[in-house]
Amino acid sequence: MSEPAPREANPKLFEALKGSRIRDENLNRLGKRLVYQVHILLKTAHIHLAGNAALAQPSERLVKTVEEILEWRGAAHLHHEGDHLYLDDLRLKMDLEGYIGFTEVIDNFRRREIGSVRFLDDVSPQEVIEFAHLWMTTSTAGTLQELLSARGVQHIAIEPPSSHLPSTHPERVTQKAVAKRTYFRTITAVAEVMESVKLKQAVGVKKSKRVVQGLVDMMLQDEMTLLGLTTLRSHDEYTYSHCVNVCILALAIGQRLGYERSHLSDLGIAALFHDVGKAEIPLDVLNKSTDFTPEEWDMIRRHPILGVKSLLRLKGLDEISTKIVIAGFEHHLNYDLSGYPRLATPRKLTLFGRIISLADCYDAMTASRVYNRIPLAPDKALRLMLKKSGTAYDPLLMKVFVNCMGLYPVGTIVALDTGELGVVIGAHPSPDRRGRPILKLIRDASGREVDGDTIDLADPTLSPTRRIVSTADAASMQIDLTRFFL
Ligand SMILES: [Fe+2]
Ligand SMILES: [Fe+2]
Repeated sequence: MSEPAPREANPKLFEALKGSRIRDENLNRLGKRLVYQVHILLKTAHIHLAGNAALAQPSERLVKTVEEILEWRGAAHLHHEGDHLYLDDLRLKMDLEGYIGFTEVIDNFRRREIGSVRFLDDVSPQEVIEFAHLWMTTSTAGTLQELLSARGVQHIAIEPPSSHLPSTHPERVTQKAVAKRTYFRTITAVAEVMESVKLKQAVGVKKSKRVVQGLVDMMLQDEMTLLGLTTLRSHDEYTYSHCVNVCILALAIGQRLGYERSHLSDLGIAALFHDVGKAEIPLDVLNKSTDFTPEEWDMIRRHPILGVKSLLRLKGLDEISTKIVIAGFEHHLNYDLSGYPRLATPRKLTLFGRIISLADCYDAMTASRVYNRIPLAPDKALRLMLKKSGTAYDPLLMKVFVNCMGLYPVGTIVALDTGELGVVIGAHPSPDRRGRPILKLIRDASGREVDGDTIDLADPTLSPTRRIVSTADAASMQIDLTRFFL
């Protein structure tokens, strides 16, 4: 089918932009907005079953977005396949901020066995309101379409899911969905604790313990998916996602060390709360985009001590072992005690402290918003850390960490000798295969973006054989990792 001409758009300009990055970026932005607005519309309709007044604004906004999409496309066609939402043929890139809206819209589609919704040219806010009400009262795509037609709604079309679509292995989809849910629940739990600490309110650790237990279970079942989630970055919630990432990375090390489940839980809690002292540092200091003043550095350097005080105030203290509090205090000390806070009497760091320090540095180096650093590609961060093995980091733990992440950690962009580009999604535990990770192909030999196959470079039957020739930086290549891991 040929592509419909854009409404009121300059055909020449459209042709020039067709298939281009600009078009996709615009459609992606509009598509994400459409998903968000559908989410708000259905949520509002759910709360205000009877009245229309509350739906007026969401429906008007949605119609505006549809009109903007129609500048580029003949129809605003939103549909889902597996875990993804598409605007026409464009797979929408989900980000951390939009995650809840995306998953709830997909759930809503699935529950009603709806494959797609098409908003056509000239759709009115009144039709959108009608659609939202009917959505709440019907259970399948067929009935919904019939009711829409019966009520004279002509510019919204509903279709059932197409059965011929290729589906991802159901078990893998479920496991991935569970991992994502656990990840986001942990972010919420850590955010609650830190917000309460900030407001000097009493807060318990029960919920955090539960979510960490979920991460431990997940880690034991599907480490690869969980490590993939640590590559996600939320700009709005950096501190929280950092805490969850450090928790996951520390658990991966603990698992390699043969820790038992209960021991892993303690390590996970210690890692999750390692930066709790930052709750008392003003956000405008933490999020500063320019260099810190000496006073601000002093404030930052106090967070391990502030953290100890906060941890001791948490409810359920009797259940929190001393090693959790000590690990928080130690996480910036460095293996050779060259870090902060300065100690009057030298002492050996605890194992928890040394593990969390490694996980913390790795996540901070690969993130974009810590202490004004430019994010490092995962393999470069690991190589830099290796240079400080024995000084800043425990050399034995460093080896364990490299074993765990591979030479090309999850999230590394690699160029292959075939001219293709891939993103690392998994590593092999055995040292002889560390340099041959599991990849997802993201560009073909001609440089075209593809939603390519997953290939295992260590697989002897792989054809053609492929070799990594270099690594690239996702940020400078404007490659958004979210779409591969979320
Ligand atoms: Fe810290
Ligand atoms: Fe940290």
